[in-house]
Amino acid sequence: MGKLYIETYGCQMNVADSEVVVAILNNAGYTYTNNILDADVILVNTCSIRDNAEQRIWGRLTVFKQIKNKKPATLVGVIGCMAERLKTKLLDDEKLVDLVVGPDAYRDLPNLIKQTEIGQHAINVLLSREETYADISPVRYDTNGVSAFVTIMRGCDNVCAYCVVPFTRGRERSRNPQTILDEVKELILKGYKEVILIGQNVDKYKWEHENSDTVNFAALLEMTALVSPQLRVRFSTSYPQDMTDEVLEKMAQYQNICKSIHLPIQSGSTRILEMMKRGYSREWYMERIAAIRRILPDCAISTDIIAGFCSETDADHNDTLSLIEWARFDFAFMFKYSERSNTFAQRKYVDDVPEETKSKRLDEIIKLQNRLSAETKKEDIGKVYEVLIEGVSKKSDQSFFGRNSQNKVIVFPCKTYHIGDYVSVKVVRATSATLIGEIC
Ligand code: 5AD
Ligand code: SF4
Repeated sequence: MGKLYIETYGCQMNVADSEVVVAILNNAGYTYTNNILDADVILVNTCSIRDNAEQRIWGRLTVFKQIKNKKPATLVGVIGCMAERLKTKLLDDEKLVDLVVGPDAYRDLPNLIKQTEIGQHAINVLLSREETYADISPVRYDTNGVSAFVTIMRGCDNVCAYCVVPFTRGRERSRNPQTILDEVKELILKGYKEVILIGQNVDKYKWEHENSDTVNFAALLEMTALVSPQLRVRFSTSYPQDMTDEVLEKMAQYQNICKSIHLPIQSGSTRILEMMKRGYSREWYMERIAAIRRILPDCAISTDIIAGFCSETDADHNDTLSLIEWARFDFAFMFKYSERSNTFAQRKYVDDVPEETKSKRLDEIIKLQNRLSAETKKEDIGKVYEVLIEGVSKKSDQSFFGRNSQNKVIVFPCKTYHIGDYVSVKVVRATSATLIGEIC
């Protein structure tokens, strides 16, 4: 039928969705290629979270256009969040894009591609309240064979004032737990050693069985951990307002649930958190961190931070800095606020923090976090961790890299083991990004 090439931008959900898309198109007779020049269909799975994410995609589309100029039969499709946000606007420049498909319409891709083959543009951006692609077995076309994402829910019902996701991914819905466990078992049979359960807000996972109990996220975690003690279970993303002690206790109970939590704070100022409509205060967040430290003393914590949200003052910014210092995050994703059309913030607030102030504040946040990351890594020196080997180090083919339970990357010299093995590694040194160890 033809060859399919796919490029993926944005978050883990998009990586997992691209695997679903390849599965759907494989079933319709398309074969995957990693060579763009070989492709009959080029898809780009896109992100709208910040303006610079979209600008990058526009850049890619001009590159695809050059390929189309040389080989006019090539179809170019935009899928994912930007397709959902911009809809027909993506078809304005007639020769750039042939196909626009939103995150809930991937089952329609084979039909839509057929339409474009007879020279029409095709678009489906319908959002769904039910679609979870539960029955589709994702094709892991770009994999280390060790670790795989498993989608447990889609969409988001929070209405954070800055965020485009509720518009691009629609309402929250959970996937049938039996299909999740089946996918996990299939992965184990294929040799995978780690699953990462993903959703926009995993703490809201909820499945109501007819005539029996409701499965919440804590229960799902436990069921997944029980599939095999040899399987590592990770998850992302948690939400401060919804993360329960029950989840933390399940993490403590099972050694194979990894001790690492991604808990986005966004701001350390209660006033800004209120404006962001996050639904928690600085104190609430600190209490959640304290609960993690109490129940899971060896748990790593990472976060997301936005600098320069509407009306943010120096005092608000200092609240963010002091919270970062207090929490001692192991890792953080840090961003400048980027206004997105139709969000509550765009409609009701003024994006009034000057660009230079946003940059200056972001720099201060990054500098502080870099110092803390380096400090927390130094504290790991001398400790022994169980590491799951993920691959050969980029710097030396005599070294492997892998992760400990805390999701920290450790590089260590080794010849005898294999990718996918668990090994005991003692940390002997730390760079700013990596731990260096020795097998022990
Ligand atoms: N501007 C900047 N950062 C944003 N994020 C979400 N929306 C925006 C925006 N409009 C960040 C948040 C979120 C992460 C995925 O992206 O920190 O947790
Ligand atoms: Fe993921 Fe959000 Fe980007 Fe969509 S907009 S790809 S959900 S990060």
